[in-house]
Amino acid sequence: MATIKEVPSKTTGFERIGAHTHIKGLGLDKDLRAIKVKDGMVGQEKAREAAGLVVQMIKEGKLSGKTVILAGPPGTGKTAIAVAISRELGMNVPFIQMSGSEIYSSERKKTEVLIEAIRKCIGVEIHEMRKVYEGEVAGVDIRTTAHPYNPYQKVPESVRLTLKTTKQEKTIEAGASIAQQIIQQGITEGNVIQIDAETGRVANLGLSMESTRGKTYDVDTSEKIPRPAGDVLKEKEFVYTLTLADMDEINARNRMGGGMFSLFFGGAETKEIDTEIRTAVDESVKKLVAEGKAFIHPGVLFIDDSHLLDLEAFSFLGRALESELVPIIILATNRGVTTIRGTDIKSPMGFPLDLVDRSVIIATNEYDAESIREILRIRAREEKATVDDDALERLTGIGAKSSLRYAVQLLSLAAQNATTMKRKSVTVEDVERVDSLFMDVGEASEHLRKYEEKLMYH
Ligand SMILES: Nc1ncnc2c1ncn2[C@@H]1O[C@H](COP(=O)(O)OP(=O)(O)O)[C@@H](O)[C@H]1O
Ligand SMILES: [Mg+2]
Repeated sequence: MATIKEVPSKTTGFERIGAHTHIKGLGLDKDLRAIKVKDGMVGQEKAREAAGLVVQMIKEGKLSGKTVILAGPPGTGKTAIAVAISRELGMNVPFIQMSGSEIYSSERKKTEVLIEAIRKCIGVEIHEMRKVYEGEVAGVDIRTTAHPYNPYQKVPESVRLTLKTTKQEKTIEAGASIAQQIIQQGITEGNVIQIDAETGRVANLGLSMESTRGKTYDVDTSEKIPRPAGDVLKEKEFVYTLTLADMDEINARNRMGGGMFSLFFGGAETKEIDTEIRTAVDESVKKLVAEGKAFIHPGVLFIDDSHLLDLEAFSFLGRALESELVPIIILATNRGVTTIRGTDIKSPMGFPLDLVDRSVIIATNEYDAESIREILRIRAREEKATVDDDALERLTGIGAKSSLRYAVQLLSLAAQNATTMKRKSVTVEDVERVDSLFMDVGEASEHLRKYEEKLMYH
C-alpha cells in the first residue's frame, strides 16, 4: 500500500511586524482611565486619557473642524497614540495617515494633496430606494437572432424570465442587454437574481436552497441562499458608504466620458480634480443629507511630522477647517519654538498662532525606566523573541540613556543576532554585540564631528 504523509503547511499568511503593530488600542477602562499596561500601551497615562476623550467626542460627531496637536520629544509615542486612536475608532470611521513631507510633490500642488487627503477622510453613507425585480429563476428562455453583419452567428435578442418568490411567480420579458448579462453570468434555473428596474443591471445573488439544483448538489461554488420573500417587483433599500474623494473620482470619470479614452488606456487618468467637480459633489451630498438620504461620517486626518508643513499649507488647513465638510485633524510634532516653514517667524511648534489657538494640545513625555522595560517586553513578544532578564535590563538602560526608539531597534537586531548564533533566547552578549555594531544618534553625531573636516557636507 502506498504510504501517504501529510506535509504540514507552512503558509501562515503574510505577517509584517511594523513599529506599531503591538498597539491594539488606548488601553483605557470604561471610565476612560488609563490602565498602566493594556492594549499594548504602557505609561503615558495623561496623553492616553486625553486621547480617550477625543475618541469619544469624534464618535459622537462633536469634534469635526477641530484640531488636536500631539506634541512631545521624538520616541515618546505620538505616532503610537495616533495609531491607538484609529484602532479605537474602528473600521467605519475613515482614518488617513500622512506625513507633513508628502505635500511636497513635483506633480501636484500642495493644496491639492491636502484637499484630497481631507476628502478621503469624510465618509458618506448613502441610502437609496430602488425598484428591483427579485426572485428565484423558475424559467429562462433566451431568444436569439442572426448577427446583423454575420448571418452565421447568433446573438441574444430578448429573454423571457419566470421569477419566483415565496409569495408569487411572475414572468417578465426583457431586451438584449439583460439577455446578454444572463448568458455572461451563467444564470440558469435555481439562481436567485436581482434586476434593477431602471438600469437593467443584473446581479446574481446565489443559488436558492429550495430549488432542485440547490437540493441536489452538495458541492457547488455558488452561495446558497433562501428563496426571496415578498413581491417579485419591489422597492429595496440599498446602503453604501463612499468617501467624498471616491465621489469626486466617479464624477470626474463620468464627465470625461470614459468612452474612447478608457477604451485605449484602461480608465481615465485623473491627476487633479477640478474645483468645479468638488463643488458639485458637495452640493449633491448636502442635498442628499437634507433629504435624509445620506449621512456624513467625518473621519480623522493624521499628519505626522507636521512641522514640515509650510505657511501656505497651514493657511489652507485653517480655511478648510471652517468649511462644512471637514474631518478632525490630528497634527503630531516634536518641535519646540521654531520658525514656521516658509517664513522667518518663530512660533510654538512651528505652527501659526491662530491654528494653535483653535487646537487642543496633548503632550507626551519621556519615559521612565519601568515603562521602557515594559514596552521592550511587549515588543519582544511581538517579535516572538525570548529575552533573558539581564539582556532586558541592558536594553532598558540603553533606552533610558539614548532613546526608546533606539532600544526598540536594538531589540530586533539582537533577536536577529541570537537567531544567527542559534540561541533560543536573546542574551546580554547579543545586546552588547549589536550595540557595538550600531550607533545611536548621540554616537553618530560625535562620530561625524570627529571627521567633520574629511566628510563632505554639501
Ligand atoms: N506608551 C507606549 N506604549 C507602547 N509602545 C510605545 C509607547 N510609546 C511609544 N511606543 C513604541 O515606541 C516606538 C517609538 O514611538 P513613536 O510612536 O514612533 O514615537 P514618536 O512618534 O513620538 O516619535 C514605537 O515602536 C512605538 O510603537
Ligand atoms: Mg512619530
